[in-house]
Amino acid sequence: MEKDEKIVFSGIQPSGKLNIANYIGALSQWPNLQDEDKCIFCVVDYHAITVKKNPKELRKRVIETAKIYLAAGIDSEKSIIFKQSDVSAHTELAWILNCIGARISDLNKMTQFKDKTGENKESASVGLYDYPVLMAADILLYGTEVVPVGEDQIQHVELARDIAKRVNNTYGDIFTIPKAVVKKDGARIMSLLDPSKKMSKSDENENNAIALLDKPEVGRKKIMKAVTDSNTGIYFNLEDKPAISNLLNIYAGLGNREVKRLVKDHKDSGYGEFKNALADVVENFLITFQEKYNSYSDENVLEILEKGKERAEKIAQERLNKLKNAIGII
Ligand code: TYM
Repeated sequence: MEKDEKIVFSGIQPSGKLNIANYIGALSQWPNLQDEDKCIFCVVDYHAITVKKNPKELRKRVIETAKIYLAAGIDSEKSIIFKQSDVSAHTELAWILNCIGARISDLNKMTQFKDKTGENKESASVGLYDYPVLMAADILLYGTEVVPVGEDQIQHVELARDIAKRVNNTYGDIFTIPKAVVKKDGARIMSLLDPSKKMSKSDENENNAIALLDKPEVGRKKIMKAVTDSNTGIYFNLEDKPAISNLLNIYAGLGNREVKRLVKDHKDSGYGEFKNALADVVENFLITFQEKYNSYSDENVLEILEKGKERAEKIAQERLNKLKNAIGII
């Protein structure tokens, strides 16, 4: 490892159709890091089974997700790309952290669990409740310093920090303390039809989100149908202009421009003109992204995941063994 090289770890659940919010909030940060740092990107399939999944579909989505990493610009020579369930150290460490690192009071604070389960907490799986501990294991196994994610994952990364500090206090210097890194514009992309709601791949109404594999003309239509705010003018203000601010974030994220610049360029545009310009950006983005996506075969991806498994396993096993030794298991 180079001297100033940091370890970067992130992952996405292969659940539902990955969308432009996953891209803007998380994925778009990743390729920029891989020249300087040691990057590890995981398809977190064990996280995906915290809610019921169709086995055939899950298998398909794992390959699709890895292909999306590649289409986003991850280079499998520079970075490690692998599947969580291929490295058993993740689930093994999660169990140990359940016992020696995480507390029930920590998990009770997790807002994502509360949001996801609503009134149905009692029937949710224990896995869904415990999922932040598995995520802490993912991160801590690799000595991760940087976790590039969207805003909704900050609380989980903070839990990983707390767990790491607790374990280090008791057992010595086992874990590195990680930090979440989010984008300035676009850490929280909202639904196209309801800007008070997060854009989510588990949303039942497909018009709320643009999937990365939506037909480009479908992406265009979804932008044209997106809600706008009642008063006119293109400017950024989350309270006064939630819908337009969200569209500006999408424009910035997919068009590689700063929100400030976009506001300047569109100060005289009406909503129709602004949406048309954004629809062009979305359509072009999807065309280019999907060209790249389609250039990989399933066989390519399976090979990359297999290679990634070997590389990840070596790193993960070392830290797991160090902890197991410290707690008296080996
Ligand atoms: P997941 O699969 O829900 O989302 C993947 C990534 O997309 C980001 N994201 C968003 N960003 C901006 N706006 C949105 N509306 C939006 N929705 C999702 C998420 O913040 C995330 O970065 N628990 C994680 C996966 C995970 C993980 C990890 C991440 C498991 N282990 C270790 C980092 C490190 C999750 O469910 O993300």
